[in-house]
Amino acid sequence: MLSVEERRNYLEITRKHSLRLGRLISDLFELSKLEAASIKPQMEQFSLAELLQDVTQEFALEAERKGITLNVAGDPKSSVVHADISLVQRVLENLLRNAVKYTPVGGSVTVTVRPSPQSVAVSVADTGCGIAEKDLERVFDRFYRSEQDDPAPTDSAGLGLAIVRKILDLHGSQITVSSEIDAGTTFAFDLPVAQAA
Ligand SMILES: Nc1ncnc2c1ncn2[C@@H]1O[C@H](COP(=O)(O)OP(=O)(O)O)[C@@H](O)[C@H]1O
Ligand SMILES: [Mg+2]
Repeated sequence: MLSVEERRNYLEITRKHSLRLGRLISDLFELSKLEAASIKPQMEQFSLAELLQDVTQEFALEAERKGITLNVAGDPKSSVVHADISLVQRVLENLLRNAVKYTPVGGSVTVTVRPSPQSVAVSVADTGCGIAEKDLERVFDRFYRSEQDDPAPTDSAGLGLAIVRKILDLHGSQITVSSEIDAGTTFAFDLPVAQAA
């Protein structure tokens, strides 16, 4: 007979496995839909201010728990883009999830948005562990995860950045990364602005 305590432990393990599996399946599903072009971006005009407010809110608790400062810089209010809002939300979520995950206690994560006449430049910078030069190109490959990552199965499958790249591709944009080991990583991309009528 299992004790109440043991039963609770098994249930907790099962719960974590199903959460992880659920995430893996939805990531796989999303990436394959994006690649099969069965997702057509629903372009609309919106300001990044509110979206950033929502997305940083999602990570506020986790950042606080880890003692990480989450900043928004630049000029979000004047950053009006012409893009698919839920896809851009996915991009920001995937980048922020990584930034918070790979940044140690006491670090910071900063999202900067800078409007220009042709586009809005967005970057997500962290003061985390960094990415080795030789891995920089491969981080966008599906299923790629760095070797120094925990070899045990975690909540990640290496699909987050592949999804980010594909979504930006659908917006005619490209993501770039620069990084320094033990100093931090910055991901940057441009979003289109609506053409003047
Ligand atoms: N901000 C970051 N700092 C350091 N390494 C990162 C960062 N973002 C991504 N990486 C590296 O890129 C790999 C791929 O990222 P991603 O596609 O989101 O997959 P996952 O988060 O599921 O491992 C990660 O496993 C990690 O090694
Ligand atoms: Mg990730």
